Amino acid sequence: MVHVDQVMSTLRQVVDPELHRDIVSMGMIKDLSIEGEKVSFTLELTTPACPFNSEIEQDVRDRMANLGIKDLDVKVTARVTEGRAISMDELLPGVKNIIAIASGKGGVGKTTVAVNLAVALSKTGAKVGLLDADIYGPSVPLFMGIKETPAVVDGKIQPVIAYSVKVISMGFFYEQSQQAGIYRGPIVSGIIKQFITDVNWGELDYLIIDLPPGTGDAPLTMAQTIPITGILVVTTPQDVAMNVAIKAIGMFNKLNIPIIGVVENMSYLECPNCKEHMTIFGVGGGKKVSEKFGISFVGDIPLNPEIMANSDTGNPIPLINPNSDQAKIFDKIARQMAGRVSVIANELKSQQEAETAGEVPATT
Ligand SMILES: Nc1ncnc2c1ncn2[C@@H]1O[C@H](COP(=O)(O)OP(=O)(O)O)[C@@H](O)[C@H]1O
Ligand SMILES: [Mg+2]
Repeated sequence: MVHVDQVMSTLRQVVDPELHRDIVSMGMIKDLSIEGEKVSFTLELTTPACPFNSEIEQDVRDRMANLGIKDLDVKVTARVTEGRAISMDELLPGVKNIIAIASGKGGVGKTTVAVNLAVALSKTGAKVGLLDADIYGPSVPLFMGIKETPAVVDGKIQPVIAYSVKVISMGFFYEQSQQAGIYRGPIVSGIIKQFITDVNWGELDYLIIDLPPGTGDAPLTMAQTIPITGILVVTTPQDVAMNVAIKAIGMFNKLNIPIIGVVENMSYLECPNCKEHMTIFGVGGGKKVSEKFGISFVGDIPLNPEIMANSDTGNPIPLINPNSDQAKIFDKIARQMAGRVSVIANELKSQQEAETAGEVPATT
């Protein structure tokens, strides 16, 4: 019969490839029981969207087999680590991670990325919300095929649920309010606070926010008002887009908001016949940005007529055509992004633990 210590010390050799910590010290092993020849436990992963989940599970199974365990019962679950600063925690207590999608300029595909990643994440089983905070051009309702407006129950705005994602958009409220684009700082911060406090978001693993483009007043105010876990920057390969993306990252760096990484959209056009990649807008804008700041390059997305058609008709491709190459690209980027968010959340957790233990002075 195998002993608990043997199982635990063997499991300690399994290291999360992204977090560089072993699964036991990260508390991923729960409810271990050994009854005769039977070993059972729960493997609690950091996010259902982690790109290394199957790798970790396989590693666990292989090592248990090497220990000579024939009757193994592993229950695999996932619990998304909370990645938000405690100081801002009174806002949205049920939301574990807030991911803001930003771009240096409009038209680079920020909303396309926000919508498709939200849907791809929710497909993994994660609870996802999508807040369209682009006050200049709220296009999430169009891209998510939403025609209804949200109900108000007990004084709280209820998000509209589309493709299992809870959605709130500035666009829902335009008819009652004013036209787009005239809001300034204090009003922006008032509106965004309402989206945070007056909406019944409930429990969410990820709240994705489609920020207004650029480095002006509106995105800056929002980034300061919302307790963001990290920013995902969308750019295109052109130098102009890259230069404004650099400016945007500089701004978020100054605000001390972690950058999850860079996504390059409209990277290439694949020839439908020969599959060759034509780089219409130049090469390497996203990579250059990631190298300049030492931040992750989360992935590239081709310029593709189906991505456009599906977005613009409210049929997000990861759900509508899940086996397409385009869907797979968004699925992969969603996993990469969730993996990076886990890393940021864990860094924050360790930092908070250290602060509580008085090891390092708390930064103010
Ligand atoms: N990878 C892509 N391939 C084809 N069309 C795209 C792609 N990304 C975005 N588009 C299209 O380009 C337009 C602008 O994209 P959008 O996501 O609205 O940009 P932003 O939110 O940055 O202004 C939309 O019509 C969208 O469907
Ligand atoms: Mg947009």
